Amino acid sequence: MIDCQNIRITGGDGFIDSDVVRRFVNRYADYHIFNLDALTYAGNLGNLKDVKNAPNYIFLKDDITDDSFINEVFQEHRFDGIIHLAAESHVDRSITDTLIFVRTNIIGTVNLLNASRNLARACGNYDVKLIHVSTDFVFDGEKQIPYTEQDETNLLGVYGQRKLAGEKAIMERLKANFILRTSWLYSEYVQNFVKTILSLGQEKRELRVVNNQIGTLANAHDLARFIIALINENTDNYGSYHYSNTGQATWYGFALTIFGNAEISCDLAPVKSIEKPTTAKRPRYSVLDKGRVGGLRYSNSRVKE
Ligand SMILES: NC(=O)c1ccc[n+]([C@@H]2O[C@H](COP(=O)([O-])OP(=O)(O)OC[C@H]3O[C@@H](n4cnc5c(N)ncnc54)[C@H](O)[C@@H]3O)[C@@H](O)[C@H]2O)c1
Repeated sequence: MIDCQNIRITGGDGFIDSDVVRRFVNRYADYHIFNLDALTYAGNLGNLKDVKNAPNYIFLKDDITDDSFINEVFQEHRFDGIIHLAAESHVDRSITDTLIFVRTNIIGTVNLLNASRNLARACGNYDVKLIHVSTDFVFDGEKQIPYTEQDETNLLGVYGQRKLAGEKAIMERLKANFILRTSWLYSEYVQNFVKTILSLGQEKRELRVVNNQIGTLANAHDLARFIIALINENTDNYGSYHYSNTGQATWYGFALTIFGNAEISCDLAPVKSIEKPTTAKRPRYSVLDKGRVGGLRYSNSRVKE
């Protein structure tokens, strides 16, 4: 079952990324996890303090935009799998700091691909598997039924452009790729909608929450499980996958459910996104069709993990 023993993870100190690293290190002692992260404003060593001394974990602070460094690192060890999570992912910053999104999401991705290709050549052309996480922002949100992996992309803004360019660079350069598009991530570790609304609900008597954007939350632990299952499953069904949890709601609808479950009595008022403007535009509809995930052995076996 497991033929990937050395796994390189980029950006392992970020939001979902630390869930992937923690799960690998704690549950799969046979794997050696090499986490390379530049520790930008989005990376936090504290996210992984519980695994930092594990014998199967190595952390390296460096930047995927530095091509000579990446090449050097890749010469040191043969890697069987790469989980590429290093990214600029804060959507509003794509408007205010657009160049860094090109450097990280496109140039950094290409550097990584070149380094893995050089490594594969040096080791007799073996297939390095690469898993990359992308986003619902590659779609414009104008559809009213879930987006499938086969749907044409249509971009809403700079963030989606940079992420799509990263996806294309991967597809053009590496056959053994899995591109996982996800949306509306949450986790107990890092700030996100669920945590924010819970803490605001305890502080305020009334909150206005957007009621004209529809999506599906994705639990970061579940995504981490899926990523690891893709490696364990050893499938060669490469290409794009959509991943989130099930169901759909507006942010307002999610807030109502979260408050109901937590027995928070703060009043919620539904508002349109125009009344709560953001720097970058958000898709009106970002529900993803998970059809391809359903076809994997993973979906039948995950409860056993
Ligand atoms: N957070 C979400 O809701 C969400 C939704 C859909 C898709 N995604 C995608 O998931 C992936 C991970 O997202 P996230 O929210 O966990 O990201 P994040 O912003 O929390 O973390 C990114 C990590 O990458 C590191 N990094 C940034 N630039 C780097 C560089 N040049 N070299 C090395 N490391 C670098 C950061 O230090 C950080 O640890 C991204 O590709 C993102 O587009 C996220």
